[in-house]
Amino acid sequence: MNNFIYDIPVKVYFGENQLSNLGTELKRYGQRVLLTYGGGSIKRIGLYDKVVEEIRSAGLDLFELSGIEPNPRIESVRAGVDICKQQGIDVLLAVGGGSTIDATKFMAAGACVEHDAWEFFGADAKPIERALPIVTILTLSATGSEMDAGGVISNLATGDKLGRMAQPMLPKVSFLDPTLTYSVSKYQTACGAADIMSHIMEVYFNTNKDLFLLDSCMEAMLKTVVKFAPIAVRDPENYEARANLMWTSSWAINGFINGGRRKAWSCHPMEHELSALYDITHGLGLAILTPRWMGYCLDETTVDRYVSFGTNVFGIDASLEPMAIARESIKRLSEFFFDTLGLQRTLSELGIKREDFALMARKACRYGDINGFKRLTAEDVERIYEMCL
Ligand code: NZQ
Ligand code: ZN
Repeated sequence: MNNFIYDIPVKVYFGENQLSNLGTELKRYGQRVLLTYGGGSIKRIGLYDKVVEEIRSAGLDLFELSGIEPNPRIESVRAGVDICKQQGIDVLLAVGGGSTIDATKFMAAGACVEHDAWEFFGADAKPIERALPIVTILTLSATGSEMDAGGVISNLATGDKLGRMAQPMLPKVSFLDPTLTYSVSKYQTACGAADIMSHIMEVYFNTNKDLFLLDSCMEAMLKTVVKFAPIAVRDPENYEARANLMWTSSWAINGFINGGRRKAWSCHPMEHELSALYDITHGLGLAILTPRWMGYCLDETTVDRYVSFGTNVFGIDASLEPMAIARESIKRLSEFFFDTLGLQRTLSELGIKREDFALMARKACRYGDINGFKRLTAEDVERIYEMCL
């Protein structure tokens, strides 16, 4: 087991009817609040009115920025930074899914510097030493942005979608009410499930020293998604299903399961290039890539991980040959994503073209080979994209 630092100081209000604490929490951080949200789902579910009422009755000053896109754009971040600077914003309140929360994180950081927010990204990224305080109200279980210090922003002008982590961007408080996800479509619920599973699998499929406690926790989290995502797709207002997915989404990526593992993530850099070029939903890209990546990485040196995954998560018969278990585990995962959850199974179905693979693969390896579960060169990444056609 490697050394690690565990530091996740996010205060979580979990469950129904917790928004009565919103005003008190915001007040701790100041008077002037910037409310950020996406394309309007929060208005359709009546959440916007409740949030505004809480802010007004706490006597706080409200400013707004709406229209944050899925795969959020740097232009939205810049617009938020401008409001923060011009209006002297004290605290940002992000209400929505990962896109709204991610964009808000970089608004909060951008408000504390003079340079353009895009300079937080890339090989020569500027440091993020400070950020205005962030409070979130989560409406979609997927990214874990409500409890992590990262975010991913798209820049159409450069064709990039780049991620960045920095502890100052960690939300101070997050409100996690599963009933706010009742309105999430079957498609977004399925994509969210694939994203949660990928966050866990990027850590679980690792050649660093294992920690039995964390491996067992990861298997339990994966089983939770496998059990409850289909229920949420079938029965969107099932509280237990929505609650289990929501809490798993936060713990999948908040640092807890990492336990000092140092290997890079593999599917995420490959997926971000798909989203950057084709603007597809992040979780869908991951669902298509992950089983193919597993197939590509499977050999005698890696097979044991697949055996643990297959037997402990999908209940495959442990008495079978290791390679047979491994192949069956990939098959079961594919069936789960594409048959049970109904996600599209190929990149061709999304209109993604082979001619772009070389460029996307080069960009996925922009900082060098992906040194993950198995080391992947740009050529390897291209092969994996081809397996997804
Ligand atoms: O924009 P609105 O109208 O709110 O609609 C959204 C959007 O169209 C809708 N939605 C959200 N909550 C809803 C709802 N519709 C009905 N009822 C509700 N309660 O769902 C659509 C997708 O929302 P979005 O925020 O884009 O989804 P998600 O949470 O999956 O976020 C995806 C983004 O997060 C990044 C992804 O790359 C992508 O850009 N990620 C962020 C990470 C992080 N911060 O750590 C890690 C992830 O790996 C990921 O890369
Ligand atoms: Zn993800």
